[in-house]
Amino acid sequence: MKFNRKEPYNDLPLLPPKQDFYESLNIYKMLSKSRASLAELKGRSPIIPNPLMLINTLVLQEARDSSTIENIFTSNDKLYRAFALTRMEKDINTKEVLYYREALWHSYQILKKNKVMDLDLVINIFQVIKGTNKEGIRKNQVWIDNGLIRVYSPPEPGKVLINKIKNWIEYENSNSIDPLIKMALLHYQFESIHPFSDGNGRTGRILNVLYLCHKNLLDLPILYLSKYILEHKIEYYRLFAEVTEHNKWEEWIIFMLKAVDETAKFTLAKVNSIYDLFKETQEIVKGKASDIYSYELVELLFQQPYCKISFLVEHKIASRNTASRYLNRLVNLGILERKEEGREVIYLNKRLYQVLLKS
Ligand SMILES: Nc1ncnc2c1ncn2[C@@H]1O[C@H](COP(=O)(O)OP(=O)(O)OP(=O)(O)O)[C@@H](O)[C@H]1O
Ligand SMILES: [Mg+2]
Repeated sequence: MKFNRKEPYNDLPLLPPKQDFYESLNIYKMLSKSRASLAELKGRSPIIPNPLMLINTLVLQEARDSSTIENIFTSNDKLYRAFALTRMEKDINTKEVLYYREALWHSYQILKKNKVMDLDLVINIFQVIKGTNKEGIRKNQVWIDNGLIRVYSPPEPGKVLINKIKNWIEYENSNSIDPLIKMALLHYQFESIHPFSDGNGRTGRILNVLYLCHKNLLDLPILYLSKYILEHKIEYYRLFAEVTEHNKWEEWIIFMLKAVDETAKFTLAKVNSIYDLFKETQEIVKGKASDIYSYELVELLFQQPYCKISFLVEHKIASRNTASRYLNRLVNLGILERKEEGREVIYLNKRLYQVLLKS
């Protein structure tokens, strides 16, 4: 049966594609670049002493970018504050972004422990993103519209759909071709299966970074393609359709490899900036406030852009009274900025915040 955008695409071929892009020189040229950039990022990230410093900061950025694709706008500042404040009323957009972050972090932990990608994990990601535990694989037909016309109808629910998602899981866990090429194939396939009623885009983007961790191309889930996809959204959608309608895999794979290459370079620059700033801040506190200096204190200021008294107490850096004195000293040094939020007081690491904002 020929592909018909208005009919459920039950003939969506199983993985791997029967196509000889495996020999494509263009793919291999791009592949070597992407692999090099990714390896450099993987090699460099351990300079950041505490993985939470990268995770908390970059993940929130990703969560925001990924959710923007779904038109959930929420400003960086609101997000970071929501992360630090316990009593803040969170609006729906901020909540969605925090769900995304939670889904990513939680699934990374599970994958690290179990070392297999299974259907439960995929469903769990979807559920956390949607803030539900009731729904799973969809039982109804859904369609993809571009605002004007129906561009794609994924396979029908039931046996057909289950069969394809099982094939996806099997292929994810197999060792066959180069893992970066495979990530591109898996991403196309996942979105084409469209296993859920909604949230397939976000779930699929989380699966990309998890896959890189699963295949040991990264130790931490810090390569986020959402920004790139968002910035090249029209091309991304066009290339999807090219695979479906004309079996044109080569361009799609190159697009995804390029996304990896550029994003790895961007992230590496971020990692370096965070590290430089961390070192600099250490020197300032050591030099100008040696009586309050401890490695743990400065490290804490980098675990997320906002800090508060209770964080110092929880990390056993200082008692309540001393903690507030410490933070005020850091305000006087120009490192932190004090902000009152209702009855809570939070302290912003100004320069870290600027580093994170820069795109
Ligand atoms: N022609 C297409 N064929 C297959 N998949 C597509 C096509 N066009 C878009 N997609 C995928 O569908 C996703 C949107 O699906 P869905 O609305 O379920 O996910 P979402 O997470 O809610 O949205 P978004 O990805 O926009 O944030 C897109 O992100 C894209 O990955
Ligand atoms: Mg949606």
